Amino acid sequence: MTQVSMTVNGKAAKGTVEGRTLLSSFLRDELNLTGTHVGCDTSQCGACVVHVNGVAVKSCTMLAAEADGAEVATIEGQAAPDGTLSAVQQAFQDHHGLQCGFCTPGMVMTAVKLLEENPKPSEHEVRVHLEGNICRCTGYHNIVKAIMAASGQDVGAIAAE
Ligand code: FES
Ligand code: FES
Repeated sequence: MTQVSMTVNGKAAKGTVEGRTLLSSFLRDELNLTGTHVGCDTSQCGACVVHVNGVAVKSCTMLAAEADGAEVATIEGQAAPDGTLSAVQQAFQDHHGLQCGFCTPGMVMTAVKLLEENPKPSEHEVRVHLEGNICRCTGYHNIVKAIMAASGQDVGAIAAE
């Protein structure tokens, strides 16, 4: 067993983990941050995406011990303390970018990072960037639209498709 400590959504967090404990498991089971979803545990679905030291990572591909000392951001830290949704979250709501919602935390965390790196992505760039995030419900169309809208771009043409 190993002691780990990290900053999660701006707050200090620590716990005791096995060497094999995944970051996704630590977040969900030790910190009760169950907004990070686990859809596959084999680094395919992207439901578990969080940010570690400013990089979007699939938290099922990283050991909790590897995140020792890191700055971690999860979906729970995206809304303001009063519950006001972030721009990306609000756009997902406004444009119906979800159905069952299982993939949504990972989609949002992936989208936030995309827009930090590329504030005005093209539709093609959004679709390419979502390659590692699987959605079984929406057909991706409204997710792409939501991300484009969150970037402040006109999504009228996309809506007309
Ligand atoms: S649970 Fe991590 S990629 Fe699917
Ligand atoms: S909204 Fe159901 S998996 Fe994406």
